[in-house]
Amino acid sequence: MALRHCWACISILLLLPGLSDGGKLLVVPMVGSHWLSLKEVVEKLSERGHEVVVLVPEVSWHMETTQAYKVVTHPVSQTLEELDNAFQEYVAVHLMQKAFPLNVLAMYKAYVHTYNTFFGQCKDLFRSQETLKFLNQSGFDAVLTDPIFMCGTILAHHLSLPFVFFMRGFGCNLHFAAPQCPSPPSYIPRLFSFNSDDMTFFQRVENALISLLELQYCNGFYGEALKLSSEVLQKDVSLTDLVNSAAIWLLRFDFVFEYVRPVMPNMVFVGGINCAKGKPLPKVTTCRRNLFHGSYSNHNNMALRLCWAWISILLLLPGLSDGGKLLVVPMVGSHWLSMKEVVEKLSERGHEVVVLVPEVSWHMETTQAYKVVKHPVSQTLEELDNSFKEYVARHLTEKPYPINGLVMYNASVHLFSTFFGQCKDLFRSQETLKFLNQSGFDAVLTDPFFMCGTILAHHLSLPFVFFMRGFGCNLHFAAPQCPSPLSYIPRLFSFNSDRMTFFQRVENALISLLELHYCNGIYREALKLSSEVLQKDVSLMDLVNSAAIWILRFDFVFEYVRPVMPNMVFVGGINCAKEKPLPKIVYLQTVKNLRGNQAGSCQQPPTCISQMLLSTNKGLGSITQGFRHG
Ligand SMILES: *[C@@H]1O[C@H](CO)[C@@H](O)[C@H](O)[C@H]1NC(C)=O
Ligand SMILES: *[C@@H]1O[C@H](CO)[C@@H](O)[C@H](O)[C@H]1NC(C)=O
Ligand SMILES: *[C@@H]1O[C@H](CO)[C@@H](O)[C@H](O)[C@H]1NC(C)=O
Repeated sequence: MALRHCWACISILLLLPGLSDGGKLLVVPMVGSHWLSLKEVVEKLSERGHEVVVLVPEVSWHMETTQAYKVVTHPVSQTLEELDNAFQEYVAVHLMQKAFPLNVLAMYKAYVHTYNTFFGQCKDLFRSQETLKFLNQSGFDAVLTDPIFMCGTILAHHLSLPFVFFMRGFGCNLHFAAPQCPSPPSYIPRLFSFNSDDMTFFQRVENALISLLELQYCNGFYGEALKLSSEVLQKDVSLTDLVNSAAIWLLRFDFVFEYVRPVMPNMVFVGGINCAKGKPLPKVTTCRRNLFHGSYSNHNNMALRLCWAWISILLLLPGLSDGGKLLVVPMVGSHWLSMKEVVEKLSERGHEVVVLVPEVSWHMETTQAYKVVKHPVSQTLEELDNSFKEYVARHLTEKPYPINGLVMYNASVHLFSTFFGQCKDLFRSQETLKFLNQSGFDAVLTDPFFMCGTILAHHLSLPFVFFMRGFGCNLHFAAPQCPSPLSYIPRLFSFNSDRMTFFQRVENALISLLELHYCNGIYREALKLSSEVLQKDVSLMDLVNSAAIWILRFDFVFEYVRPVMPNMVFVGGINCAKEKPLPKIVYLQTVKNLRGNQAGSCQQPPTCISQMLLSTNKGLGSITQGFRHG
């Protein structure tokens, strides 16, 4: 576990400018209002030491740039008037009152016309051999682009560069369809329907029909883009081909305003980023929206949604309204090190934070930034220390497989029940419980590893947010119902990678059968206590599956690919808030030992090295050796 953190730290150190060179990034924005939010991001990237080049048409439309980055212009044949006219026509169609479906058809025609006009600029780019040559010779590392006009995407393919999308979404659900996120028509209303997620049978039929038209709609809309890409890339290209290899999707919305659906881990929600430079909304505009509402158009609906998002984000910001009242139930020891940074920030931003700590505790440094409430416990520090020492000692004994697994399991159960004694003491302290109940908290933030905060949140009937690395038994993926196909996702205690032979897959399947059993053993005491406290039978799944948000302290790039739920937020590297350069020797030695031990079996070095280390005595032996040598 520690080593995984270590790896994350290494990679983050490498990614940070100053310690290594920043990257060289080509930015292909979309003109107009879309640039307003992208430009904030581009400025930040440049500020952090990346070399940023922004590609802009010579004649362009609301493309204010600054000195913070280099701007490269390319020649275009259109005049500003032509662009203006196309957009005015587009707006005019939205203001015409026509009956359904004539309004939709008229809008579609206007969309295609506006699109084709603006896409003319992209065709001009691909006519400018000079610009293309310059871009090819600049040695960019990646492309950051708003793909609505598709020009950046085609360019990235042409230059064979990885690309990152920064966008609101495609009209035809392509941003969910291309990364293969399920969008069941029975639950996810389509953009041009007026439905919610609660649909009657006929609304579902309507929804299904609209979803059939979606691709057709987009193919029409992007007709010119598809023609150009087929010419440029010299092969037949579909819309999905163009966008499905995006490395990261930065999506300018917040999942809480959307319908629930699994997403891919490379889809990052940055809703509210448009509000970097927030001004209070003029109240009158908000009210007048209601006049429009209903008279026409989905576009209005979209605007209304955005408007709502603005309002809610303004409300959430401290200063403009009151911050929330948060109960933090941390895990003792090293887990607290990363959580305390977050807790300090929350308090700094105006939330009223109360941290609940056992009277006798274990590496729980706190500061003045938040209130600390202590609850009485019966154990001494020595008892805690001893159980942890025993746990470490068992990890360092060299025993053959599967005895080593059993010994470690035994040690884990013992450690858990010792530390969980503190939670039992909490629930014996009527005074503390009464105080907590009367404090009127809005939510609980907890590291669920020892489960105490989770049980407390259920007891107080409060929503809870997890801040964690993961459960040993895949519960952090199983509880939110994220698929973990046994043929592709190696289990924690296997020595496999995601490329398994038939027998390795069988082994993986057997391990997964043991997983729940393993966790039920470790959390036996926790389950007993929760059943007592909540006065009903409670399973592990019942305890954790109603988490409002899962803040996960790892980065998806070091993990195996799998869909996740949108309330799972990856914050890998947050442990490195206060970074120091790593001592190089420890790291090299560890890798050398491992390469020696397990040569050839590693497909994905970072992930599987840490996997190997996590799973073996041998691995842990090598770390200690590494440290000794280092
Ligand atoms: C970019 O330049 C390299 C050589 O410098 C060349 O091999 C490659 O074909 C060029 N690519 C494009 C898209 O022009
Ligand atoms: C596990 O621990 C119990 C008591 O702590 C002990 O009796 C048992 O032998 C241990 N099992 C293994 C496999 O170490
Ligand atoms: C919390 O207090 C309220 C009344 O103030 C009471 O109804 C509720 O049962 C208490 N909850 C717990 C878990 O003690």
